[in-house]
Amino acid sequence: MRKVFVTALVLVLAAASCSFADGVKIGAGIYRFNDAFMLRFRNAMSAESEKAGAKIDIADGRDDQPTQDAQIDEFIAGGVNVLIVNLVDRMAAQETIDKAKSADIPVVFINREPPLEVLNTYGKAYYVGAKAEESGIFSGQLIVDYFKSHPEADKNHDGKLQFVLLKGQNGHQDMILRSKYSVETIRDAEIEPVELASAIANWDKLEAMKIMNAFIMSIGPENIEAVIANNDEMALGAVEALKAQDYNKGDPSMYIPVVGVDANASALEAMDRGEMLGTVLNDADGQGSAAVKLAVSLAQGKDVSGEVTDGKYIWVPYQKVTRGEK
Ligand code: GAL
Ligand code: CA
Repeated sequence: MRKVFVTALVLVLAAASCSFADGVKIGAGIYRFNDAFMLRFRNAMSAESEKAGAKIDIADGRDDQPTQDAQIDEFIAGGVNVLIVNLVDRMAAQETIDKAKSADIPVVFINREPPLEVLNTYGKAYYVGAKAEESGIFSGQLIVDYFKSHPEADKNHDGKLQFVLLKGQNGHQDMILRSKYSVETIRDAEIEPVELASAIANWDKLEAMKIMNAFIMSIGPENIEAVIANNDEMALGAVEALKAQDYNKGDPSMYIPVVGVDANASALEAMDRGEMLGTVLNDADGQGSAAVKLAVSLAQGKDVSGEVTDGKYIWVPYQKVTRGEK
């Protein structure tokens, strides 16, 4: 009699722990919903959560850290088992970590990389992302390959590459390292890069279009030999500004190679039309699903040491994307 009761109790407990595992609650904060790449990322997280049987709530930080902080507080008060956070300000990670720590829940940062010393203040803090310098190297290589195979790309025949640079939001590791490594890669290929102008366009197409328009007016499109943009949206803004001057519309004598990063659908379409030279795949699906899988394992108290690098990281590789000659 007693034995039967114990067995039944064990079964009930097993069932309870199993449904806990299935019902992991994830609270996710995105820096702002109005961002083409982060939309892909969000969709990937939702799809993976559904697959895993986890529940995910995703909040729009509206590009405002205090707004996101309040959303994190709400998630914690609502009893989420784990946080996934795309910080508005990656230097504000400590506050989120402290909150996760006092609630004793793990936190997985994505896309905006907190400093290692801050991650190190909490054993249950992780980062899932892509190595920013790798994307910079790839976009530099796209330009180098084009320049080397198209002698006419050196419009003023000085053997140097006169470019303009459109940068993402200030302080973002992708803005800093893509800018740095794209230009260094050109220099490493023994082409001297000459920066004609650069400006921050905050990942935004419209801002980039306006800035590129100003560059075209002040520099003259015939003097620009390449446009390097830290992401596709800004590359597409530059393309719009160029097209308004009849550049990149099919006439080979009126063409400026433009490169971006992300491989969003709209950039791939522009490449198919011959308006944009190339991009670098920023693997939203890979990063989104890795972040959710890690979050679920952590929420279940599993040992993740085999899945992470240096105890803290999951790195998803970038890939160069071109469309061949048109
Ligand atoms: C970058 C991406 C940009 C933008 C940014 C947001 O990785 O290339 O397009 O989405 O993240 O933090
Ligand atoms: Ca030149």
